[in-house]
Amino acid sequence: MLLLSMDYKKIHIPVMVKEVLEVLNPKENGIYVDTTVGCGGHSLEILKRLGQEGKLIGIDRDASAISCCQEVLNDSRVILKQASFSRLKEVLSELNIDRIDGVIFDLGVSMLQLKDFSRGFSFHSDERLDMRMDQSLPLTAWDVVNRYPEQKLERIFRDYGDEPFARKIARQIVKFRGKKTIDTCKELADLVKSVVSERKKIHPATKVFQAIRIEVNREVEELQEGLKQAVQLLKAGGRICVISYHSGEDRIVKNFFREEEKKGNIRILNKKPILPSLEEVVINPSARSARLRGGEKL
Ligand SMILES: C[S@@+](CC[C@H](N)C(=O)[O-])C[C@H]1O[C@@H](n2cnc3c(N)ncnc32)[C@H](O)[C@@H]1O
Repeated sequence: MLLLSMDYKKIHIPVMVKEVLEVLNPKENGIYVDTTVGCGGHSLEILKRLGQEGKLIGIDRDASAISCCQEVLNDSRVILKQASFSRLKEVLSELNIDRIDGVIFDLGVSMLQLKDFSRGFSFHSDERLDMRMDQSLPLTAWDVVNRYPEQKLERIFRDYGDEPFARKIARQIVKFRGKKTIDTCKELADLVKSVVSERKKIHPATKVFQAIRIEVNREVEELQEGLKQAVQLLKAGGRICVISYHSGEDRIVKNFFREEEKKGNIRILNKKPILPSLEEVVINPSARSARLRGGEKL
């Protein structure tokens, strides 16, 4: 099932827009970078605050996000680029930009990726396990599930998914694939369901799917590198805003901000993460796990 960008615009609601704008506090003629442009939800709001001299660079590693934004962010002040944010410096240097006024990371997976079942992110999908944000890269979720040794699977489920049944699930996967490969998302979801008892609020396979996605897309390494480069690129007084969606991700951001504050590079704007309001979660349940942290370059 392929979702067209028009459909996506209807289902996509950017998360914590008011809070993002408060943290970024965009200056009329500033240069802003949206490192996870997705389908342009946050970018569009930032753009509304910019004057004619302002600039917005939208980056995403997913080619379909960039094509979606070509329509949504059709504006002479916008430059779009397909790239990983771990290459932020390189991307900006190619554009002759060496300093920026603000940067946002809205981490994780987009609705465009989740709802397009052919991308193999969703446990409801009958399609082949994939989960690559950048489809030109070789490693897929199928390779992880069918080729990784048991201990490595267990470690990924524990470290990236906080999955308490990590060992049991890894053992069951290896046992199953001794008979046949695990090909589709649904096959994997059913197998995890057979090991893990029902969970309140979330599907039993949520943590395992999250862990595999993080492994496939090297999300931990990407985030550490992206944050480092972003802070180096900010002008004094420039702002960084990061929205994360699970505890492991938020821990990386929190520790990074603390280290940078200790080094005298930034001032942390909010000691505790900002959470979405109850009203927002009612309208947009996918915002429920969002955590926002902001910093200002010194
Ligand atoms: C939650 S969505 C962003 C939604 C966006 N803020 C909006 O309002 O439309 C996350 C996006 O980040 C992208 N992404 C994730 N990791 C990335 C990385 N390391 N480099 C570049 N883009 C990345 C994904 O492809 C996805 O499109």
